[in-house]
Amino acid sequence: MAKSSSDVPRPVLKWAGGKRQLLPQLAKYLPTSYGTFIEPFVGGGALFFHLRPGRAVLIDNNPELVNVYRVIKEDVNGLIASLKKHVNDSAYYYGIRNADRDPGAFKGWSDVERASRTIFMNRVCFNGLYRVNKKGEFNVPFGDYKDPVFCDEGNQLAVNQVLQKATIILGSFEQCLDFAKKGDLVYMDPPYVPLSTTASFTSYTRDCFDVTAQKALFSVFQELDDRGCKVMLSNSYCDFILDLYKGYRIETIMAIRAINCVGAKRGKIKEVLVLNRFE
Ligand SMILES: C[S@@+](CC[C@H](N)C(=O)[O-])C[C@H]1O[C@@H](n2cnc3c(N)ncnc32)[C@H](O)[C@@H]1O
Repeated sequence: MAKSSSDVPRPVLKWAGGKRQLLPQLAKYLPTSYGTFIEPFVGGGALFFHLRPGRAVLIDNNPELVNVYRVIKEDVNGLIASLKKHVNDSAYYYGIRNADRDPGAFKGWSDVERASRTIFMNRVCFNGLYRVNKKGEFNVPFGDYKDPVFCDEGNQLAVNQVLQKATIILGSFEQCLDFAKKGDLVYMDPPYVPLSTTASFTSYTRDCFDVTAQKALFSVFQELDDRGCKVMLSNSYCDFILDLYKGYRIETIMAIRAINCVGAKRGKIKEVLVLNRFE
């Protein structure tokens, strides 16, 4: 079952496509035992923080996200000290946010300062979105929330502990093949195939995840299956995915989502969970 929100460690970032609400449904399909837990699209890492595995490999191609995990693992006290200096104020927020408009100066920021900026912005920006424009500039407006928690010290320390058992990789999902062995559990939660041309599931970073990428991911799924890994993959419930993975076990998951392009209306929507036959 999903752990309560007071449990630590829990995700440090609110992340688009985060799997927290789906954990009870995903948990039903998890294997009872596995070697290393591998997440090639870790994002906010909801399943990783739920499982707290003894050995893990976490991969993502978003450099700011990966830097957050590395800094929490390697210098959590420096990060906490930096987080404590932030203030929830619009002018201050835009000053921090717009630091990436001057790439030369931004390069001079330390890893701790960058991680602190990412966590702070994630907590105080509108809806906790991560969105960058074509130039890679973070462009989410100030959220104007009352008392957002951007220095959750207890959780940062607990996350630091669980990350000691994790190898953290900045790279593309194919790199999971450098680590995966028979008996390992690989959970793949890629940017989803869009259900309509207006729905964008591809703007987490500057790279988009197109049909070619979905097919390359399918090849990785097949290779992991051949190696004897236990593989689970989330994606949209759509003909393209149902057809691509038709040789595997496909379960239906119900998610609550914004169901129109404005995002104001929410409803239940089907997703797939593809599994190879591991148990
Ligand atoms: C749907 S999110 C994962 C959400 C995550 N499961 C959670 O619970 O928060 C997809 C992630 O894939 C990452 N990503 C996109 N393209 C990628 C690629 N080619 N290789 C690795 N990661 C990628 C994005 O940066 C994003 O963090």
